[in-house]
Amino acid sequence: MSQRSQQLGLVGSGPALPRHVAIIMDGNGRWANRRGLPRRLGHRMGVEAVKRTVRAAIELKIPYLTLFSFSSENWARPASEIDDLMGLLKRFIRSDLQELHQAGVAIRVIGERGRVDSELLSLIDEAQALTRNNQALTLVIAFNYGARAEIAAAARRLAERARCGEIDPAAITETTLAQELHTSGVPDPDLLIRTSGEQRLSNFLLWQAAYAELVFMDVKWPDFGREQLLEAVSIFQARDRRYGGLAKEVLGS
Ligand code: IPE
Ligand code: IPE
Ligand code: MG
Repeated sequence: MSQRSQQLGLVGSGPALPRHVAIIMDGNGRWANRRGLPRRLGHRMGVEAVKRTVRAAIELKIPYLTLFSFSSENWARPASEIDDLMGLLKRFIRSDLQELHQAGVAIRVIGERGRVDSELLSLIDEAQALTRNNQALTLVIAFNYGARAEIAAAARRLAERARCGEIDPAAITETTLAQELHTSGVPDPDLLIRTSGEQRLSNFLLWQAAYAELVFMDVKWPDFGREQLLEAVSIFQARDRRYGGLAKEVLGS
């Protein structure tokens, strides 16, 4: 057995796998800078890392994978870089949609639609409609996504429904608020990975990641793939998730 498949054997037969892995794909620009290349090449290589990671998630039978690909704050970047990032998502959907569909991937895009060009919006609609019944993996792409805006919009919708008398404000709970988020129906992430060495959430899944295990890795996103996903999963499997309770050893004694 090769070292690689052994590694999969270990994570596959060990403690529970995460049901939902969310990744802040960071470090494309630095990956390129270090090689004297333009940032756009870092982003282009980042798409290859996305493909490797999707394949590995399917192989591992992780049911949900969320990838942060453009934040609501990324509009602060130069227009040319924003164009490159929009172009890459368009190209990814155009060239890989059939293959993702055949592999049983359901694509779901979360984030604000405003400011996203209509050509990209229709590609997103097409990808979601084509793949909606697929079962192997739900690939959630967070594009033009910001968690604070998402939570504010959910609060606004609940307030509007309360004003119309549709709901009683006293009946608003964590569950009803979560149902108004873009991620409604998607389980909370168990494992949240950020690459590139930065250790912050940058406005990603602030509500949903309340009890996610955070794993920060030094690898820059274009160098991420199956091996790095397996490494993060094995770090996750060694964690003791207490949810405010007591450690397993304490309970057992
Ligand atoms: C992540 O890489 C991709 C996006 C945020 C769109 P960056 O572009 O942030 O790369 P660094 O952080 O500048 O290296
Ligand atoms: C977070 O990375 C957003 C994405 C990965 C899409 P950034 O590079 O934009 O985050 P900051 O600016 O370092 O916090
Ligand atoms: Mg960055």
